[in-house]
Amino acid sequence: MSAVDAFPTKPLTDGPLTDRLLAWFDDQHRVLPWRDAPCGARDPYRVWLAEVMLQQTQVATVIPYYEAFLAKWPNVKALARANDDAVMHAWAGLGYYARARNMLKCARAVADERQGVFPRDEADLLKLPGVGAYTAAAIAAIAFNGPTVAVDGNVIRTLSRLYAIDAEMPKGKDAVAHKARALLPMARGGDFAEALMDLGARVCRPKNPDCPACPWADACLALATGDPLAYPRKAVKKTKPTRRGWVFWVERQDGSVVLEKRPGKGLLGGMMGFPTTAWQADVLSAEAAAQSWPSQSCVVLPGRVTHTFTHFHLELQVMRVTSEDAGAGQWCHPDELSAHALPSLMQKVARHVLALRV
Ligand code: ADE
Repeated sequence: MSAVDAFPTKPLTDGPLTDRLLAWFDDQHRVLPWRDAPCGARDPYRVWLAEVMLQQTQVATVIPYYEAFLAKWPNVKALARANDDAVMHAWAGLGYYARARNMLKCARAVADERQGVFPRDEADLLKLPGVGAYTAAAIAAIAFNGPTVAVDGNVIRTLSRLYAIDAEMPKGKDAVAHKARALLPMARGGDFAEALMDLGARVCRPKNPDCPACPWADACLALATGDPLAYPRKAVKKTKPTRRGWVFWVERQDGSVVLEKRPGKGLLGGMMGFPTTAWQADVLSAEAAAQSWPSQSCVVLPGRVTHTFTHFHLELQVMRVTSEDAGAGQWCHPDELSAHALPSLMQKVARHVLALRV
């Protein structure tokens, strides 16, 4: 049964759309660890930390990381003093590691230049490292109850549907922001932001919207067309390119392998991992790849390790190299790899190689 078939006919309800949304939110809001006080009365550090972690990452994934970070670094000054490696280690597995590096820069900017006090003003928030338009608006709204709209994927989806906005998204985001501003309750900016997040997550879901549960159902122009899933309108997705490369399992006699800290910039920047070649459209030959490491023997292992990043698929071939030279890296016994909090790609590499041994 489609969402439309399931929609019961019910009388039009009165009341402005905003009031209905807020009444729904008062009743149905999600209880989340960063919602520990009413909007406007929350610690901006906690709001900021949650928003940085929630960029591109699901709520359920974020919760344990958020709690662990707060336990280790309960305020912005503590985080600013933290050791970079300790923070990258605690972040490992959350992905998009540039966020963690910017997060540290931001904490240090707030601690050093603003006496540990986050700005209230959206324009000042926007100047902080790692804080883009969405995050600045979300912090201004949620931490300070500012009258501003934070337009993310949820807001694009819910309002594109409510108003059957035909502009292609995300390009047509301004049309959504315009509609959102017209609905914004000046005294409840934070609740409005969270209400749209919750409506998008619980009701106006991307694939199976629960239209009968929606406080806006009778007003929803997309639902009225009979095909709410046609909104938001999206440009045809470009297929992701595939990049390829080699990863080296450099092993010395006692079975220890080489781990290297990846360069600070770029994907997985600053994280620990097994050495790799560059990731490119064309893969080096095994002979060329083998030149990368001084070694007594190189063996190409069967299979490939694959991983999908936001903009490309990655396919790594694994070369097992016997060497006593760790180069710029360090030795680590495979039993101790978990102490290094490797990013997911590198954990896959380890599982791939270790599975071949049994
Ligand atoms: N996604 C982004 N920010 C969020 C928040 N504060 N609560 C729930 N989901 C979110």
